[in-house]
Amino acid sequence: MNTPLEGFSKLSKADKIDWIAKHYTKDVEATKSILEKYWNTDPKVQKLHDEFIENTISNYYLPFAVAPNFLINGKLYAIPMTIEESSVVAAASKAAKFWLTRGGFKTEILGTEKVGQVHFIYKGDTEKLQSFFEEIEPELRKSVSDITLNMEKRGGGITKIQLRDLSDQMEGYYQLHCTFETLDAMGANFINSCLEQFAKTLEAKAQSFDGFSDEEKNLEVVMSILSNYVPNCLVRAEVSCAISELNAGGMSGEEFAQKFVQAIAIAKIEPYRAVTHNKGIMNGIDAVVLATGNDFRAVEAGVHAYAAKDGTYSSLTHATIDGDTFKFWIEIPLALGTVGGLTSLHPLVKLALEILQNPSAKKLMEIVAVAGLAQNFAAVRSLVTTGIQNGHMKMHLLNMLNQLGATEAEKMQLVEHFKHHVVTNASVKEALEKIQSQ
Ligand code: MEV
Repeated sequence: MNTPLEGFSKLSKADKIDWIAKHYTKDVEATKSILEKYWNTDPKVQKLHDEFIENTISNYYLPFAVAPNFLINGKLYAIPMTIEESSVVAAASKAAKFWLTRGGFKTEILGTEKVGQVHFIYKGDTEKLQSFFEEIEPELRKSVSDITLNMEKRGGGITKIQLRDLSDQMEGYYQLHCTFETLDAMGANFINSCLEQFAKTLEAKAQSFDGFSDEEKNLEVVMSILSNYVPNCLVRAEVSCAISELNAGGMSGEEFAQKFVQAIAIAKIEPYRAVTHNKGIMNGIDAVVLATGNDFRAVEAGVHAYAAKDGTYSSLTHATIDGDTFKFWIEIPLALGTVGGLTSLHPLVKLALEILQNPSAKKLMEIVAVAGLAQNFAAVRSLVTTGIQNGHMKMHLLNMLNQLGATEAEKMQLVEHFKHHVVTNASVKEALEKIQSQ
């Protein structure tokens, strides 16, 4: 039985590895060798990565790929993607190429509002709290002037502070519901710093507010934190073309458009399908969010809350046939940054942003939304034509062959073979064994 260890974080990297290997793995030398193999050969780069988080013992590689030929508002982009799932990048590239000759993607920013809240408990008269809030609102803003100075110089800052009464849902529960414009920063640190200062000012001012009774003066902050639900930090991306131009998978444009719209309609009303449908969208979104050093967990949480905003979890994309025009679009909340955080630290993140021509946060929102829409187009197109496994298993073929230890020559031969045969675990194993026995 392993026993807990005090002060693991204070051990040297070598000692951490030693301890982990001895206590939790079967082969100490093999464990050390894997971990070391993934270290960067440049100690300066390794140190940088070590310091991103705590207790680092190695680096965890994911592929860094590029999907070219994305025409967005008349400009061509190659989109960097970081993801482990085979076929995602190929699907994005295929969708980009499809729309390249059909007018490309059009995008629009619908809002950039970020949100943060101070949650507090106040046991007393709501009207008194309202007049207290109106009196101290300017002081709340003044108390964060040091924090907001630079952001305000660039045109951002706090946009609104509202008092919200939620005491009908939980006894004494109120909020300062605050909105922010954080420009090219994702803004989490800026927002949380403002909120924590608001909380202090709120409690201190309550103590000295003459209109409050002693109990009311003891208004108590529970917590102060940004919200990853940003329904007004919204971007729309769209493609459209004549139905006659939609020939795909051997179907007529009309048949394809109809099936496609039906597939989206199903994802709108049926949560089991909507979750997988949106997962496919997030394949594209997360890959770009990760490549550009943004917080994909924040994006995921916000996006799924948005997908459920009308009370049922539903599709994030929409499609219509209007006369002879097919239209397909996404509306999605994305809180992203192109300054701060990892953006100037991680060499590959810097490169990803350079490949995207150093976009503003708004431009990055547009690019990410396009990646999501393209991914969804590719998935739904496969689903309503050939089925998903056809392309999926072909892309997965190399993973299977690597797992079976195939040589380069065997891989080449089998990739050719499976252009005309169905890929399954059994069929790949059998075909490899056949070559090997010859
Ligand atoms: C797989 O990663 C994503 C899909 O399941 C998405 C979808 O079903 O729309 C193919």
